[in-house]
Amino acid sequence: MSTITSARQSASAVSPAFDVERIREDFPVLKQEIHGKPLVYFDSAATAQKPFAVIDAIRKFHEVDCANIHRGVHELSQRSTAAYEETRTKTRKFMNARSRTELIFVRGATEGINLVASSWGRKNVAAGDEIVISAMEHHSNIVPWQMLCDEKGAKLRVIPMNDRGELLLEEYEKLLGPRTRMVAVAHVSNALGTINPIRQMIEMAHGAGALVLIDGAQAAPHLKIDVQALDADFYTLSGHKLFGPTGIGILYGKAKLLNAMPPYQGGGDMIQTVTFEKTTYNDLPYKFEAGTPNIAGGIGFGAGLDYVTRIGMDKIAAYEHSLLLYGTDALLRIPGLRLIGTAREKAAVLSFVIEGIHPHDIGTVLDRQGIAVRTGHHCAQPVMDWFHVPATTRASLSFYNTFGEIDALVAGLHKVKEVFA
Ligand SMILES: Cc1ncc(COP(=O)(O)O)c(C=O)c1O
Repeated sequence: MSTITSARQSASAVSPAFDVERIREDFPVLKQEIHGKPLVYFDSAATAQKPFAVIDAIRKFHEVDCANIHRGVHELSQRSTAAYEETRTKTRKFMNARSRTELIFVRGATEGINLVASSWGRKNVAAGDEIVISAMEHHSNIVPWQMLCDEKGAKLRVIPMNDRGELLLEEYEKLLGPRTRMVAVAHVSNALGTINPIRQMIEMAHGAGALVLIDGAQAAPHLKIDVQALDADFYTLSGHKLFGPTGIGILYGKAKLLNAMPPYQGGGDMIQTVTFEKTTYNDLPYKFEAGTPNIAGGIGFGAGLDYVTRIGMDKIAAYEHSLLLYGTDALLRIPGLRLIGTAREKAAVLSFVIEGIHPHDIGTVLDRQGIAVRTGHHCAQPVMDWFHVPATTRASLSFYNTFGEIDALVAGLHKVKEVFA
């Protein structure tokens, strides 16, 4: 028996009950051919595909219940309000927040981080204060903090990593001090797949008197999230990476912190009373939700949460881990291929370079074989700089992917090597 076959067998033994073929039936987009080949979708870290449950919920809202929320006494408004608010309740369960009022609807993780940097940051950060981020952050967890630091004369400090793509906790410890106001770190890296030890990191930050924001954009689709067990102060995620639609996400914040923060945007719904002299603000969570929100998106997002909850995050994580083991083993057999990101704790992301072949060429040849991967800097240019590569090819996997699709990727990469030999 070849080692790859045995890797596949032992990997699939990890999750014997996972019926991936049944699950694939729920994702209409997967049933197509691209350039005459069956689509292999390995770009779920950029955005995940949507099951019928999500597509149908959005369609039903527009066909049957469409109305603006919160302000109407009529039946349609009540139905749409109930459906939208139901998603907040589902999110509370999904993340184990204490209360629905701690969950703010935002456009996505980017807006969640900007909300905290802008609202909490402007009030609480002064010249000489420090914000700690990590070397593997997505640009959306770098730039808002940089903007805040520029405005306030504060300092951005960066936790370094080792060559596997793991954060150096002893260096992190040294960065924490009396001027540290906030630690903002990814739960899972989009470019490397590293799962950071955020529980420990949060404890360390709290020990130094700092708050912690976790960027959960890449963790929420793969791992069970429990904001209370983590003791996270803020935790944000994007609906579209979690099998829901684009333009919707969640910012979790501890109520006492959110209550003390000024509003992020002004407008309808976030007020209690308005006169030309003075405005009083609404209670949580509405204080942070100005204007008509993405109602259809919120309802679709709720359907996505139901969908993954029905399958079970534990089962999803176990199956994806078996895919990751199999894929890692298979890719490492390709001569000249170097994996970028080999952390001991990893989510199902395979980022790599092949000697002498530009990632864009790899992506283009794979696309001709129906295989969708992402090439570039993955909105994490400092990660590319750290590994001294201009870009990588990233195959990001989800629970609707199969071992056979990984075989197709390996065959595709052999083809790439033939073309550029
Ligand atoms: C780790 C990480 N953080 C934040 C984001 C931003 O998410 P969004 O573009 O949905 O706001 C992404 C998107 O790729 C991400 O991977």
